[in-house]
Amino acid sequence: MDTEPDFYSDPQVIADPRSYFDLKRTSGPVSFEPHHGTVMVTGYDAALEVLTNKDHAYSSACSVVGPIPGLPFTPSGADIHDQLEEHRREMPWADHLVCFDGKKHAEHRALLGNLLTYKRLKQNEDYLRSLADRLIDSFIVNGRCNVVPEYAHATTTYAISDLMGIPMQDRAELLELIGAPPSQVAGDAVHKIGPDPLIFMKPRFDQYLRERLEQPRDDLMSELAHATFKDGSKPDFDTVSGLARFLFGAGQDTTSRLIAMATLILGGNLELQQRLRREPSRIPDFIEEVLRYDAPVKVAYRLALVDTTIGAMAVPAGTIVTVCLTGASNDPAHFPEPQRFDIDRPNLRDHMGFSRGAHGCLGAPLGRMEARIALERLLARTAEIRISEQHHGPAERRAYRFEPTYSFRSLSDLHIEFTPA
Ligand code: HEM
Repeated sequence: MDTEPDFYSDPQVIADPRSYFDLKRTSGPVSFEPHHGTVMVTGYDAALEVLTNKDHAYSSACSVVGPIPGLPFTPSGADIHDQLEEHRREMPWADHLVCFDGKKHAEHRALLGNLLTYKRLKQNEDYLRSLADRLIDSFIVNGRCNVVPEYAHATTTYAISDLMGIPMQDRAELLELIGAPPSQVAGDAVHKIGPDPLIFMKPRFDQYLRERLEQPRDDLMSELAHATFKDGSKPDFDTVSGLARFLFGAGQDTTSRLIAMATLILGGNLELQQRLRREPSRIPDFIEEVLRYDAPVKVAYRLALVDTTIGAMAVPAGTIVTVCLTGASNDPAHFPEPQRFDIDRPNLRDHMGFSRGAHGCLGAPLGRMEARIALERLLARTAEIRISEQHHGPAERRAYRFEPTYSFRSLSDLHIEFTPA
């Protein structure tokens, strides 16, 4: 299949990644990808096998950027653990949790693990509801809006800001600054990313943390500032600042694009809208089905550290494995008729939208809650949501723009029109 499209740069794949995953799956659940020499995993069981591997056969050192910047060393031999450790610091995102491995990863993840508790999220729920209503107030009289900047992105930035305790006066500026993460843009940009792409926020987050160290408040940043490892020792200040920046940045674009994709699907399905207005308790199932069908994170990358196998395929040490999360969530062997959007699927929560295993998304409960409240309020305040023909064309020929990133499924904009309730 050397004529297959290049997953990492082809505009057709950016526009329609699910067809690419289906095509790859025709050669088996694990297949070779000729353009960059990676291995693509599109089968559900094989994806689970890689993500939950307990033998330290894989590293997450490349988990955000995959193969495009290239490894800073030439892998040699059947075990590249030592080579990786020697060069790890040269890799993009090296300073952030999502790229850590083993014991260091488990210890640092545990520092964040207790922060997003049910109780804290519950406290945030009223704020989220009033935020959604305020945002809707600002565009409801127009009968139209661009969901991505006007609703989805604002919701997620303000939500994590409120949880963390970021001062009101800083929030709008941070919303501007954070934008979409630059990490997955195909082309040159990715080569320039250092070990900490969020470094530009460091002075600000250092300041927030110092204030909390002196005087704790009732916010997540204070808990993080005072968090200790399991043995009672304290992480150093820069480590905590890195975790705070990552927590702030990690879930904004993803949750925002989930809200946008969910609205796109609703806009094309009036029957489903009416059902969810009648039965709002099914909105969480609707969100799970969006995460299965066309999730914000398309893939997660792993680096094979030893000669290994996935399913029946031999994978040499040094190979980058692209675990196609959306491919796995659309594997007909696990989800019958995967192209059918169906909130009544008995196993819809099995999807891979939040990945699995040691690195499975820590913010999933927050992402789910933000999306639920945003959609509950949008459905409650409208009688009908329609996709704008002016911007996206007639129903038979809709056209949407997606950000040219090879890891995210990121709608650039989504124009809707609606009849207020
Ligand atoms: C719908 C929204 C979201 C989606 C689809 C999503 C997806 C993901 C995925 C696929 C991973 C795993 C990457 C891998 O296996 O290499 C991940 C990790 C992570 N996510 Fe999310 N995420 C979302 C929202 C959030 C939110 C709101 C937060 C926090 C406020 C968050 C924090 C994290 C963190 C800290 C990790 C790293 C976990 C680790 O490496 O141990 N995410 N997310």
